[in-house]
Formats: sequence, structure tokens, C-alpha cells
Amino acid sequence: MTGTMAQLVGMLGRRLRLGMVGGGFDSVIGETHRVAFQTDGLYELVAGAFSIDPAVTRATAAGLLIAPDRVYDDFREMARRESERSDGIDAIVIATPPQIHAAVATAFLAAGIDVICEKPLTRTLAEAEALQSAVEASGRVFVLTHCYSAFPMVRHARDLVASGALGRIRMVEAEFAGGAPGVNLEPDDPADRHWRFRAQSMGPEAILGEVGTHAYHLMSYVGGTTPRRLAARLQTFAARREVFDNAYLGFDYSDGAAGRLWASYVATGVQHGLSLRVFGDAASLEWREEDAEFLRFKPLNEPETLLRAGQDGASALVTRSARFRPGHPEGYALAFANIYVEAAFAIAAARLGQSPRPWLDNLPGIADGVAGLRMIEAAAASNAADGAWRPL
Ligand SMILES: NC(=O)c1ccc[n+]([C@@H]2O[C@H](COP(=O)([O-])OP(=O)(O)OC[C@H]3O[C@@H](n4cnc5c(N)ncnc54)[C@H](O)[C@@H]3O)[C@@H](O)[C@H]2O)c1
Repeated sequence: MTGTMAQLVGMLGRRLRLGMVGGGFDSVIGETHRVAFQTDGLYELVAGAFSIDPAVTRATAAGLLIAPDRVYDDFREMARRESERSDGIDAIVIATPPQIHAAVATAFLAAGIDVICEKPLTRTLAEAEALQSAVEASGRVFVLTHCYSAFPMVRHARDLVASGALGRIRMVEAEFAGGAPGVNLEPDDPADRHWRFRAQSMGPEAILGEVGTHAYHLMSYVGGTTPRRLAARLQTFAARREVFDNAYLGFDYSDGAAGRLWASYVATGVQHGLSLRVFGDAASLEWREEDAEFLRFKPLNEPETLLRAGQDGASALVTRSARFRPGHPEGYALAFANIYVEAAFAIAAARLGQSPRPWLDNLPGIADGVAGLRMIEAAAASNAADGAWRPL
């Protein structure tokens, strides 16, 4: 923690109070959020509407020692009642399926509560744009948990591109292509399908929201620009599957650069499969999540360099994104925790009448969420037009 950060915590004089909507013991991602926000001791979880199933909400709340009067069956009631308490929550974590992110976020923003929301931002681009207006009108802090952008070496990659070390950027390539059995195969009984494999929940292009938006966000977070148009081809390979499970997207940038994104659930045998490569005319870089401590930097006429988290010489942001000395792998959980650290300082600064802006500069936010939905809708339109270019 830097001096300014410690000062902010001292001035606030307490941990930030968090609530969760979704993220119950019946969910995939809820526990990851709890690990992440508990890491640095900046938050306490005090309230929740954890599940669509009241019994699961109660079991989750009991396991997490949440006071019974702060356990809610309905998120709207939670927003109202928490905003009326003198010790109400400062921020809500939204970890529900994306279909209801817009409704949940809108309810808490209207109650004056800051929002930390899972990706993809919403179900549709229209919902995303309406939510962006609501965020701007509210003046509240809004953070989107594109957690991979908070790995120290992703942030280091971003610094390298911004410093000009790669020269003029020519190609940006991202993959989020896994193929472990849980996503490669449809369950025998269609009733066992998770919502991300049901066309009616997030549309047949759900893969682009689930994994595609993470890769797309990394392309702009590190590459520094968003493309002007895309062309997409989407396929379904797994038997009995009703959604796309493979996607190839090509991008054009206004400055002549080109990009490519591969999202897949059927990259057989690959466990996670997230990686990013950026090629400039002077150097290129490569980062793979399964080897996340390292960033490969490859200048044209010099030896390749293996940069490592925690090494000296990195920017202040990269330095504080790695908690330990080089050689101690930190991994996914502590990268996710970095999102919560900066969100905490943004929320605390706002509570103290200061600008949250400097703390939000390195975090994914509402505009990234809207960009993700714009990519999904353009890709669906392009695929329907046999891969024709569509503007972004
Ligand atoms: N950042 C990441 O790396 C990452 C990883 C996985 C999932 N996600 C995202 O997290 C979100 C949740 O995904 P998941 O896989 O955990 O989903 P899930 O279906 O496993 O869990 C969703 C949770 O929300 C609850 N819920 C549903 N409707 C609710 C309501 N009206 N009120 C209160 N709770 C409700 C469910 O009961 C469950 O606890 C999605 O947006 C997904 O894209 C992000």
C-alpha cells in the first residue's frame, strides 16, 4: 500500500461495507469474489441477496456470518433498506447471471450505492447504453470485473505499449479458447445445462459475453485503442448444443493496425486458454494466463527478455499490483484482488469528498462494458451476414 492509499484508509477510519447480489453457494464465481475482496482487508461483507433460491441465500448468509436482518430475498428491497441505514453498504457486488445486471445495478445506483459488477455488463447493447447514462447521471463509482487486466504483467504490457517500446502497433491477437470437459461437452440431460449454454438466457452468442469480452477488453486495455470494425464467424461443434461454442473475430483499427480474437469452448484439452500477443514494428510481447508471472518482450534486433512480476524497474502501478518478491507466484486470486484494492480507494476517495478518478484510471468501467456489448452485437450481425464487416 502506498502512502496515499494508507492515508485514505486512515481518513475513512473503517473498512468499506459490501453487499452481494448473487454469488451464493450455488454459484460459480461468488467465492472467487470473496477471496478477492477479503485479501487486503479493505472490505467487510455485511449484507446480501445471494441467490435466486431463498434457501440458498439463507445458507450462504449463515455460512458467511451475515446478520439475519441484512439478508434479503429481493435485491430491490435490499437496495432500499440498505440506503436507509446509517451503517448501510458502501458498494454492491453484482455476481448474478448477466440478464439481470442492468436491473440490479440501476436499483443500487438509484439508492446512492457504488457498484462493482461482473461482466458482460448487460444482456443487450441498448441496456448497456441505458446503464451508462444511469451511471453518469448518478456520479457513483462503477467498476466492471474484467479481472485479467489486473495481473501485474498485463499492466506491465500496457505500460510497454504506451511507452512506445513496441514501436507502431501492427497486430493485436487475443485468445480465450478453452476446452476442458465442463465446456467441451454438453451434459447428457439438457436440464443440467448451465445458463451460458442456453440460447434463451444470453442468446446464441453467449460465448462472446462469457469469454470473448475478457479477451476483447485485454486487447484495448493493453493495445490502447479500440477497433473501428469487425468481421465474425461463429460455429457450434459440440453435439446437442444450442449456442455457438467457437468464434473467430477479425478487427480493423483506424490507424491501419489489425486484430484477431479467438473465443472457444472446444479447444480440446486446453484448461483455460487466455493469452495476448501484441506486435509492433520494433518489438512484440506475449502474455499467457497459465504462465501469468511472466511477460515475454521480443525486440527486433535484441535478445528476447523474460519480464517477471515483482522485478525492479516497473511503474508504480505494476509494482503495487504485485504483493511479493519475484519468485513467489501470486496468480489469479491476487490479480482479482487488485481490482478490489483500486475500487476500494476510488470508493473511499469519493466518500471523503475527493475525486475517485485517479483510482479508476487503471480499472475496467462502464465504457468498457458498453464496448463489450457493442462487439457482441456487431459480431452477431456480421456472422448473420456471412462474415461481412460491421462497424463498431
Ligand atoms: N470475472 C470472471 O472471471 C468470471 C468468471 C465466471 C463468471 N463470471 C460472471 O459472473 C456472473 C455470474 O456467473 P456464474 O457463473 O457465477 O453464474 P451462476 O449461475 O453460477 O451463479 C449466479 C448466482 O446468482 C444468483 N442469482 C440469480 N438470480 C438472482 C436474483 N434475482 N437475485 C439474487 N441472486 C440471484 C444465483 O442463485 C447464483 O448464486 C456472470 O456475469 C458471469 O459472466 C465472471
